[in-house]
Amino acid sequence: MRKKLVVGNWKMHGNLNENKQLIDALVTDLTELKDAQFAVCVPFPYLYSMQGSLRETNISWGAQNLSQFDKGAYTGEVSANMLNDFGCKYVIIGHSERRSIFGETNQIVAEKYVAAQNAGLIPILCVGETLEQREAGLAEKIIDEQLSVVIELAGIDTFDKSVVAYEPVWAIGTGKTASPQQAQEVHAFIRKGMAEKNHKIAGELVILYGGSVKASNASELFAMTDIDGGLIGGASLVASEFASICRALNN
Ligand code: PGA
Repeated sequence: MRKKLVVGNWKMHGNLNENKQLIDALVTDLTELKDAQFAVCVPFPYLYSMQGSLRETNISWGAQNLSQFDKGAYTGEVSANMLNDFGCKYVIIGHSERRSIFGETNQIVAEKYVAAQNAGLIPILCVGETLEQREAGLAEKIIDEQLSVVIELAGIDTFDKSVVAYEPVWAIGTGKTASPQQAQEVHAFIRKGMAEKNHKIAGELVILYGGSVKASNASELFAMTDIDGGLIGGASLVASEFASICRALNN
């Protein structure tokens, strides 16, 4: 049985006061949910307070990025071991905003994935196509390339301790969700590609869907065979919405 997982991606939102309200509400709302796993990936400065507030709860925490380097003269960067110091379980790798705004290539993403794995963090590896790529019939090719570079560098065996998130770029923050069937097709494609390399790892791989998931569409997405949970942006900033999404998976 694959584990089920909902992860909130706060992006560059929040402040100490808002975070406290959000976390207090989530801790209360999610406390009874035992059948799935939950996490929030927050901006670096707030990791310390997550460690304090979430340690004794059923909500894990993590970061949204890390450096591919272990340590050294890399001004402004944050290493995997630094994330470990703050008890992170997860780190998002290769989010489309990192790829498109900050120039992260498939190679850099693969190096970051390896850095996370070497430090014992669970990478949440994001893949997904743009609208132009989908319309040109290139979605599968793009996703295959994004995954292949990581598999080549890290090895297929590392996927027993990682999570993949399919996030169609055209659905992120746009309010346009992939239909459950569209998402399922891509999830099945990802799992099949993995199965050709290692059947057991593919069967156990947790594949999240991300892109305008809300309380109102979560259940139908999570009902699909190969969708094991969600990576939630905007809706993770509203406690009641995020809690409803978590409940939709917990059922
Ligand atoms: P969204 O973002 O839920 O706001 O579309 C998802 C993501 O970028 O991870």
